[in-house]
Amino acid sequence: MQVLGDGGIPIDVRIDGGGAHVVVLLAGFPLTRDIWDEAARDLARAHRVVRPELRGVRASGANDGPFLMESLASDIAAVLDEIGVRRASIAGHSMGGYVALAFARMFTERVERLALVCSRLSADSAQQAQSRKALADKVYSGDRLALADAYAARLTCDATRASHPEIVRRVADMAAAIDPRGAAALLRGMALRSASDDIAPELTMPVLIIAGECDEIVPLAEARTTARAFPQAELAIAPSAGHVPMLEAPEFTSAALSRWMGRIDAVSESGS
Ligand code: MLT
Repeated sequence: MQVLGDGGIPIDVRIDGGGAHVVVLLAGFPLTRDIWDEAARDLARAHRVVRPELRGVRASGANDGPFLMESLASDIAAVLDEIGVRRASIAGHSMGGYVALAFARMFTERVERLALVCSRLSADSAQQAQSRKALADKVYSGDRLALADAYAARLTCDATRASHPEIVRRVADMAAAIDPRGAAALLRGMALRSASDDIAPELTMPVLIIAGECDEIVPLAEARTTARAFPQAELAIAPSAGHVPMLEAPEFTSAALSRWMGRIDAVSESGS
């Protein structure tokens, strides 16, 4: 289905499964919602799984942006409004985590649980923002290899590259499916994002942090610091996984997400 997001941008949404609890899965960059296929299949056995394609990606609309994380969060609110859902669990992978954090700041009461997969609380440093904008310029001008050069090799860990070339191909295919205009607008939006360290201590819902043991983009030490910033966060470290544990360690990732979805059920069932 398509929903009109912030400013009338069409947002393409896929919904699987059913049940009392809704979980929204948000993809990282430069990836598509297909990154969640295995996790969505597992979660959909017990829950309603909502996967919006973020603006700028495939069938969702794009313009020149920049796509602020707050606009992407407003798109998610519009999707939930359209399907009549007030509160949902939000899981964001990397850039999807930046969107989940913006959503949690803007619509705290709508967040039942929060999961960050290989994501971070900090904003870009001045230097990171500068190189992100330079990459956006290259991508916008049609240099498709620039995106692959910047991300492809860093998304998976060495062990995955050696033994699972199909995973490496799968992420490369996703990156290739993103419209250059949308990709540039997302890069510019990420460069402008605010840090979320201030809001983390206020987010008292169950939080899950999933880290890849050998993630080169969000190192394990940073994931540990992120987990400590929330009042009640569980840290799950995916063994031998890099930046895409949902592909590199799918059973581990699905199990962690299912446990996290069970945390509120257990609380609600015990009458809290
Ligand atoms: C992602 O996977 O979404 C990106 O690594 C995020 C980023 O570039 O900061």
